[in-house]
Amino acid sequence: MNQDYIQPNPWSILEEGFNPKHVKSSESLFSIGNGAMGQRANFEEKYTGNTFQGSYIAGVYYPDKTRVGWWKNGYPEYFAKVLNAPSWIGINVIINNEVLDLNTCAKIKNFKRDLNMKEGVLYRSFQATLQNGIEIAVKSTRFLSLAYDELGVINFEVIPINQDATISFTSYLDSDIKNQDSNWDDQFWDTTHVLIENHQAHIHSNTRKTFFYVNTFMENKTFLNGKELLIAPKISSTPIFASMCFTKKILKGDIFSIQKLGGYTTSLNHDIDKLILAAKNTLEIATNLGFEKLKQTQINSWDNIWQKSDVTIEGDVKAQQGIRFAIFQLNQTYLGKDSRLNIGPKGFTGEKYGGSTYWDTEAYCIPFYMVTKNNLVARNLLAYRYSQLDKAIDNATKLGFSNGAALFPMVTMNGEECHNEWEITFEEIHRNGAIAFAIFNYVRYTGDYNYIPEKGLEVLIAIARFWQQRASFSTEKNKYVILGVTGPNEYENNVNNNWYTNYIAKWCIDYAVEQINYIKEHIKKEYARIMHKVKLSQAEILKWKSVAENLYFPYDENKKVFLQQEGFLDKELIPVKELDKTQRPINQNWSWDKILRSVYIKQADVLQGFYFFEDHFTTEVLERHFNFYEPFTVHESSLSPCVHAIQAAKLGRLEQAYQFYLRSSRLDLEDYNQEVEEGCHITSMAGTWMSIVEGFGGMRIKKNNLCFSPKIPNQWISYSFKINFRGQIIQVDVTKEGSTFELHGNTPIEIVLHKKTLTLNPNKKMIL
Ligand code: BGC
Repeated sequence: MNQDYIQPNPWSILEEGFNPKHVKSSESLFSIGNGAMGQRANFEEKYTGNTFQGSYIAGVYYPDKTRVGWWKNGYPEYFAKVLNAPSWIGINVIINNEVLDLNTCAKIKNFKRDLNMKEGVLYRSFQATLQNGIEIAVKSTRFLSLAYDELGVINFEVIPINQDATISFTSYLDSDIKNQDSNWDDQFWDTTHVLIENHQAHIHSNTRKTFFYVNTFMENKTFLNGKELLIAPKISSTPIFASMCFTKKILKGDIFSIQKLGGYTTSLNHDIDKLILAAKNTLEIATNLGFEKLKQTQINSWDNIWQKSDVTIEGDVKAQQGIRFAIFQLNQTYLGKDSRLNIGPKGFTGEKYGGSTYWDTEAYCIPFYMVTKNNLVARNLLAYRYSQLDKAIDNATKLGFSNGAALFPMVTMNGEECHNEWEITFEEIHRNGAIAFAIFNYVRYTGDYNYIPEKGLEVLIAIARFWQQRASFSTEKNKYVILGVTGPNEYENNVNNNWYTNYIAKWCIDYAVEQINYIKEHIKKEYARIMHKVKLSQAEILKWKSVAENLYFPYDENKKVFLQQEGFLDKELIPVKELDKTQRPINQNWSWDKILRSVYIKQADVLQGFYFFEDHFTTEVLERHFNFYEPFTVHESSLSPCVHAIQAAKLGRLEQAYQFYLRSSRLDLEDYNQEVEEGCHITSMAGTWMSIVEGFGGMRIKKNNLCFSPKIPNQWISYSFKINFRGQIIQVDVTKEGSTFELHGNTPIEIVLHKKTLTLNPNKKMIL
């Protein structure tokens, strides 16, 4: 544990007491988002201490020119980044000529932040004594509306405590914005005009190169003890800045407040010349509703989400807080309304990973969205990749593949590869497998087979083509081999025959062939259409099959384990527990050379294969591989502990599963990887959810049946979760005594509990 200042609480992320050292971490942890935009928890008022400013708009990105020392053919020319967007939250506060700044105040007490996850509202309050001796109490309430997703709302109030004071609020929009991770210090935005009208202001900007047009807007109202004031603001502007200043003499004990409505309208959703009009319409709706109704609507919207997705844990408040934080952040990041959007590993909480799409979406996030929302949400995530298939084919063509083979990018915004480290860009090709697996997983869970002829099969064929061409024949082994790859464990590069990659390659081909045959037989019209489009011959399918049937899988006969890659056993097999703690995390303490030669595994690799393809192996085989690989695993990717939690639970090692669960669910809250300042690990939060539902709950789909094998860690009195299965909600409650299932729906459903088939009837509890 690297930090423990976040107070345990079942529904809130809480910080008490002001510590400048925590500001950047808290800016990540207390971030808010509504699927369309996001905001780090930067203070509204001026802060001259260390801070990392961040406002983000989903889908608005900039192609930042690649920067590498030595160019390699095949590198992408740019890395598309979700940009730090013009800021709308700022409210400078001046009290008797002194600027309120928590970095320079004489005294601060009762500082508190509360991110109320039930409500989707961020609260902050403190008392401060300024250098001029004036003591004030400050409260701010902020949310990004789920109901009106172009809108953010702030209520900011100040009470002079020890004397009357002249207070001014300068509320502003600022387009002078940079990304910290900019490669060349380029200017990403051009601001074309600034408009101030009545109590509203608008700043019109566009991204360079990608030409996303964004209108950043605000409207302000001030109040004295809750009663609206009619103060004429002092207006000021520059070509990139607009502000309005409201000043009033406030008596000791009175509440002076400003309500600020702000946000973005963008050319993703409106005509360029209607952006201001769209903002005005949103502002009109919002001002008519007023702050309290907007807040109530927000609470109702979140209630709706929690109704379908809450997970409760009784008897362990830290575990409870961890899972709610995960569910909350995932919903803040992506709501599935728009298939042009996806889930960046840091969501809207930081710049790292550029807000782009990784294999994380298919391998980790789809199960969460599939089970807690209606089918359309996960379908949209699959459709995102389908819409980028042509670019994945272009990407593979650029690397020397042909005939419609596709290599989906490791990192992307619009379908083009953005990543530029050869060992990942060119070698971490297993990502193609996760994209195919997600199609299988989606159809398995939802029963929406139509997706395969509609879109999925074309993707499966292009991926199968890639694997067939990527494999080469080794005459020495008399087998096909896949050389020069990086598996999920990025602490090994350029290895031959990574077992996971080879296994998923074979599976992709087998699955594509199975689906082709099924559609050929059962949906003839679609078959003809697709075959005409992709020009696939039987001769080509035979070539695929020959690769799949003759792929090489490194295996050690003595230990009876599949080897992560050829030569793995030549390493010094010293388990992680024998490593000096001061050396951890190794990625911050060791040279890359030392890491590559070591046995240490960043994240599930062979075990990732056992997770995806659990049914292909017996529990005994899983146990042998878990026992062999886990002791060498340093879990330095946020995606690692969850897979191990699920497997430990399956193996009945509940204490170990619990520890992995805590590590996954409190990774950011306790900053295990010492990097939360950069943002939270959003995609791995879906893994946290999987640890409970698939790990402890044992939820699986087998032969079209929903199966459970619930177990409960010692530390918990009970836990519960909800499953949206084919249009009906099933609530599962687990205690040490047994499990209760309740079906909220109309149609009886068969479930399998510990291998026994049972029928759940609508709205009747089944206690077992
Ligand atoms: C992991 C990758 C992951 C990426 C983004 C890396 O540290 O090794 O598997 O896709 O982070 O989350």
